[in-house]
Amino acid sequence: MAKTNQAAEIRLENISKTFHDRARGGAVHAVRPLDLEIKPGQLTTLLGPSGCGKTTLLRMVAGFEEPTTGRIIIGGQDQTKVMANKRDIGFVFQNYALFPHMTVYDNVAYGLKLKGLPASQIREAVGDVLEMVGLTGMEKRFPNQISGGEQQRVALARVIVTRPKVLLFDEPLSNLDAKRRVQMRGEIKALQKMLSITSIYVTHDQEEALAISDQIVVMNKGTIEQVGTPWEVYSQPRSLFVANFVGTTNVLPAQVREVQGSTMAAEVQGRVFRVQTSISPAVGSQVYLLIRPEAAQIAAAPGEEDLVGTVKGVTYLGEKVEYDLEVLGQDFKVVVADPQRGTVFEPGAQVAVNIPEERLSVVDH
Ligand SMILES: Nc1ncnc2c1ncn2[C@@H]1O[C@H](COP(=O)(O)OP(=O)(O)OP(=O)(O)O)[C@@H](O)[C@H]1O
Ligand SMILES: [Mg+2]
Repeated sequence: MAKTNQAAEIRLENISKTFHDRARGGAVHAVRPLDLEIKPGQLTTLLGPSGCGKTTLLRMVAGFEEPTTGRIIIGGQDQTKVMANKRDIGFVFQNYALFPHMTVYDNVAYGLKLKGLPASQIREAVGDVLEMVGLTGMEKRFPNQISGGEQQRVALARVIVTRPKVLLFDEPLSNLDAKRRVQMRGEIKALQKMLSITSIYVTHDQEEALAISDQIVVMNKGTIEQVGTPWEVYSQPRSLFVANFVGTTNVLPAQVREVQGSTMAAEVQGRVFRVQTSISPAVGSQVYLLIRPEAAQIAAAPGEEDLVGTVKGVTYLGEKVEYDLEVLGQDFKVVVADPQRGTVFEPGAQVAVNIPEERLSVVDH
């Protein structure tokens, strides 16, 4: 199967959705007015906690839900008022939604039959796509005769066989066990790249989002907190919410002492850190210094110059050790990879803590 001719860009302009729900006291603002650009051929994930509006946003793009405000532009064309079945979009659901009384072959062929393609062409296209998802030989089986992972492949095959302009996924892997989830997400990514179909992928699993995305949209309470590459949202979070939702982070409340261009001096319990930042808060205001547990280091026997940490808890996980420390009056986590025999600190130990200034980021909310 050839690539889709031209990958489509998706633009959401001032999109919002308000539901009316008497039981919850009237208006439910599932998605608050937002703008978003989804680059052609890329895989963008919507990442956020339960109830933040991911599915609602996806369903508006699909045409299953009418926006309260705003416009949806796909490939330069306003699709806001276009019916779902006319949008040329493939949707992969969490629960597969296969036809139980149809074979794998017929499930995949269904969309092409609807389009009225000749039988020979259908056979070829279905054969191609089943090979792509690794299901050759399973044509005659029924959905209840294959595993969950295989069912999800059928669902994927059924959608891509029609060569849609856009692919939408709503938590497609959440019914699979952890190992299959990791395998399938790799396959979805590879397939999406090969076909370069513009895709939006909903998940609340931050690791999944980091693993498969070209772009991550972090959502919270119907709004967008941050849009960026996996690297950007992990290492340059713009808010405490993003820092805490994507991975684990240490948060040090700090007072701004000095700002000079993009350099800021901020004080935490008498200690001053100099950090690079793109925000410029007022001198005297409060900010938060953030550092990932794997970016800090600890060592034995602190000297006078060192930051001192007290070990509160130790979790040995084979590949790494996680320490819960108290540093500068705060809870502070440090992760040490590949621990060697005899180097693991015990609870109660006083250790030297190194917080490299270049690994700190700063947020003000
Ligand atoms: N048809 C509806 N009527 C009323 N409220 C709704 C409706 N659909 C969604 N909501 C509400 O809108 C908000 C966003 O829901 P949505 O399903 O988009 O969240 P989500 O981010 O997909 O969550 P999850 O991760 O649990 O799937 C929630 O508060 C939800 O209860
Ligand atoms: Mg959802």
